[in-house]
Amino acid sequence: MQVTFRIKRFNPDTDRVGRFQEYKVDVDPTDRVLDALNEIKWRHDGTLSYRRSCAHGICGSDGMLINGRNRLACKVLIRDLGTRITVEPMRGFKVIKDLIVDMAPFFDKYRAILPYLINDSQPPVAERLQSIADREKFDDTTKCILCACCTTSCPVFWVNGEYLGPAAIVNAHRFIFDSRDDAAADRLAILNDRAGVWRCRTIFNCTDACPREIDVTKAIEDVKRALVLSRV
Ligand code: SF4
Ligand code: F3S
Ligand code: FES
Repeated sequence: MQVTFRIKRFNPDTDRVGRFQEYKVDVDPTDRVLDALNEIKWRHDGTLSYRRSCAHGICGSDGMLINGRNRLACKVLIRDLGTRITVEPMRGFKVIKDLIVDMAPFFDKYRAILPYLINDSQPPVAERLQSIADREKFDDTTKCILCACCTTSCPVFWVNGEYLGPAAIVNAHRFIFDSRDDAAADRLAILNDRAGVWRCRTIFNCTDACPREIDVTKAIEDVKRALVLSRV
């Protein structure tokens, strides 16, 4: 089948604003958007720029706006999109070139919530044990691949770039509810700040956008509830 791709292009050396460019591409219905982008880059226009790595929905590098929704290009089949496909960079970040956005502020927020196990007590001879029930409390949020599809689909983030955003909260949740971790209060204090969880208006775009099917809004609500109960 032939598909027309409308791709938002931006060259920082020559463009002041982004512009759409069209490409007609022969693809199989079961090709993914990433396959088509590769076809365009390798056979039509080598200047097209986009991030990708694993091509299997694991590395989180090819989040982009596809027909108006944030998705991973390597997980969306052409047959599910039709014969006109619009591809744009994720919203809310500075565009570096074409579909590549500046992820540095996103990872700054990720680092701000202390995304690692903190426990200064003497470690046991073997591993730090945890019950199955305790492990399940944060199982969902371990699946995050830091693609930023959630944060860049959140209207609150679009109007207030200070908001830590759902991805940072999901990764805080992963440690706040880990029974082996001792720094939940520190993370809750960070998320109680004016850029933290209270900015969330329960809009659910983040949950809709997550390619890992994490219940992002529920994770945010878990953190809000923990804050209320802990009275940080
Ligand atoms: Fe991506 Fe989902 Fe993680 Fe958000 S929560 S960064 S959408 S994997
Ligand atoms: Fe935004 Fe998700 Fe909350 S879209 S407002 S972070 S529920
Ligand atoms: Fe790795 Fe799509 S290329 S998630």
